[in-house]
Amino acid sequence: MASGHEGGAHVSWDPVHSMVLVPAVAKAVKPPVVAAGGFCDGGTLAAAFCLGAKGIQMGTRFIATKDAEFEQIWKQAIIEREERQTLVARGLFGPMRFLRNRRAEEIVEQTLQDLPRFYLGEPLDSNEEILRLERTGFDDLIDSKADTALMFGGEVAGRIGDLPTVQDVIDSIVNESSETIGALPGRVLSK
Ligand SMILES: Cc1cc2nc3c(=O)[nH]c(=O)nc-3n(C[C@H](O)[C@H](O)[C@H](O)COP(=O)(O)O)c2cc1C
Repeated sequence: MASGHEGGAHVSWDPVHSMVLVPAVAKAVKPPVVAAGGFCDGGTLAAAFCLGAKGIQMGTRFIATKDAEFEQIWKQAIIEREERQTLVARGLFGPMRFLRNRRAEEIVEQTLQDLPRFYLGEPLDSNEEILRLERTGFDDLIDSKADTALMFGGEVAGRIGDLPTVQDVIDSIVNESSETIGALPGRVLSK
């Protein structure tokens, strides 16, 4: 697994795609690997198994459920966003991905203005102005201001368009992954 950049610290601001990262980690470590990032249904769980993972962890999918204790505008934003409607910037804890809205754009613009080398992979601390934008974004989330609320979420938001219960999410993932895996030999192996 390649890491680092010759001549200095290099921490990519842009997360490595699960398709690349999961098999690399599964090859490199002994403990069971749980894949995260982009998983939301039975097909993607089946894909994770093929990549060498023993299971998946989901963030965005679970926010968009009836039971999740997240704000309604956040759930709605996940349903509405397409794959390309997220942005990465220097967030509270490091590089973070936001559902695209005016607040997310402001945080990206501030990051570009104050910390442009963040986008070259330098591990930079956040600053007061970025933190202020984020704090205001949290306030606006509580006030249900969808355009200026701070809402994290993955590109997988583009594949999420409903608001099921957690039980329904789990049941459909279990059923769909079994069906997908069961159908694979007939689909891809020669008779
Ligand atoms: C609202 C939210 C908060 C999160 N907080 C953390 C965190 O504090 N630490 C962490 O390692 N990952 C955190 N994550 C990442 C998730 O644990 C998970 O790895 C990621 O969301 C998986 O990608 P997905 O959203 O495409 O399913 C967070 C994700 C979301 C959406």
